[in-house]
Amino acid sequence: MKFKWILLALILFAAGMWAGRSLFPKVVSSIPAPTRVQFASQTDSTGAVVPLSNEILEVKDGGSILDAVKKANPGDLIRVYPGTYKETVYIDKDNISFQGIIIDGEWPILDGEKELNDAFLYSGNGIQIENFKIMNYKGNGIMGQAGNNFVIRNNWVIDAGVYGIFPEFGQNGLIEHNILTGIEDAAIYVGMCDNIDVRHNEVYGNVAGIEIENSRHALVENNYAHGNTGGILAFITPGLPIKTAYDIIIRNNFVVDNNHENFGAPGSIVSGIPPGTGIIIMAADEVTIENNIITGNNNTGIAITDLSMGANLSKDPESEPNPDRIVILDNYLEANGKNPVGELKILMKAKMLDRAPDIVAVGGGTGSCIRNRDRYNTYGLGDYGQCEVTDTKDITTFLLDKPVAPRQITMEEKGNLTFYGVCAGCHAYDVRMIGPPVNTIQAIYKDNPQGIADFIAAPTHKREGYPEMPPQNYLSEETRLAVANYMLKITQE
Ligand code: HEC
Repeated sequence: MKFKWILLALILFAAGMWAGRSLFPKVVSSIPAPTRVQFASQTDSTGAVVPLSNEILEVKDGGSILDAVKKANPGDLIRVYPGTYKETVYIDKDNISFQGIIIDGEWPILDGEKELNDAFLYSGNGIQIENFKIMNYKGNGIMGQAGNNFVIRNNWVIDAGVYGIFPEFGQNGLIEHNILTGIEDAAIYVGMCDNIDVRHNEVYGNVAGIEIENSRHALVENNYAHGNTGGILAFITPGLPIKTAYDIIIRNNFVVDNNHENFGAPGSIVSGIPPGTGIIIMAADEVTIENNIITGNNNTGIAITDLSMGANLSKDPESEPNPDRIVILDNYLEANGKNPVGELKILMKAKMLDRAPDIVAVGGGTGSCIRNRDRYNTYGLGDYGQCEVTDTKDITTFLLDKPVAPRQITMEEKGNLTFYGVCAGCHAYDVRMIGPPVNTIQAIYKDNPQGIADFIAAPTHKREGYPEMPPQNYLSEETRLAVANYMLKITQE
């Protein structure tokens, strides 16, 4: 009896599949909902448990993804159909998933037309963004501010400004299967984060391919970094609130022909990256470099330096400047260093050499090691010992088993993050950018943060010769007040 029912169910299922295929070749309901890293429920500000909603909202060509976000509740999935969406999607809520629907090779495209700053800007937790083509933005493709438990996968980010995928201050995040090109700074930029996996991405034609900065517990694995100025970077940048970078594994990547001329903005830190550098470790600690294929990088394959070699760095006595406990395991390095530039060229000239070695270490640092050193051409690794570890195979991921609780950030931090994430693209301290300088605004709104919070929710056109400011009403009242307070306190940049 039971068997009959199963058989019937199977036949119905098969017939359904067949009908779906032949009659409606474009059925999209066959596209599975994404597997989500999310909370089963979340707690509100009083600590009460709020169940997630799990509705599906659809956005079609001509619609607005931001409008869907405004309607969405935590737990909802926003499915976006092929079409071109010219907007910035701000996400100030938790547990919202975005899934692009690809039909016959047509993707949903977010196009900033070189007018808009950001495509996706989230501050919620449990955000997932997959299957989008993002192009022609000026600031960031996908930027996260203090959002934990994120998944960013299977997106194209093409010529989308300064950073391609940029989670900042996040914990427990996965960045995989994305393709990024034409980014002026770092294509994948993990800044001040913990527990991040960056895997199976392709980055090419950017200034920096993948940058892990002031972050801990990061796995960079199975990526293809080619034709950038620098391929993969692990950096400490001084002057930021998080001071350390350690426990980073750079493993099983192809790091090939990263010889692009440097087109980073003058004055930026990445503008100092010597073209032709495969992997760069600057001041980061406990970085393991293992099983990578590193070839054809004309400056050098792996460069390890302290902060004294970095360009445009601020002075920060709290940042420890040396790369310590670097572990170089087996890697395949070949045909790097054909045409060293800058400091390395000078260093090599002094030794009557035209080429640079595959691995170069300059500056301070202790406790580092290399395995099978005789296989490589190296410079400056005199005090590197023989490694005791042979591999890192016990570590398969730095993601956590369970989602972490939302980061508690103070209103001041919220104001700071919002200012630099949203306002700083148009407002500088004492020069006119797209909007008036901050010091001019401070003079008008002295002791009146509420006035700013109200203005930015519904700006009116005030100044001749300036465009109208876009409304910031997607920000909560609280956030608007926080950013207003922050704006009034800024003293210089
Ligand atoms: C896309 C560019 C842009 C962004 C982003 C932007 N602004 Fe503006 N802002 C402008 C422009 C342009 C003006 C001048 C508008 C006018 O005078 O007509 C302006 C004016 C202002 C003013 C002056 C209001 C007055 O009464 O004179 C304040 C305050 C302000 N912005 C705050 C902010 C804050 C806070 C943020 C971030 C949450 C922000 N802006 C983001 C472009 C921007």
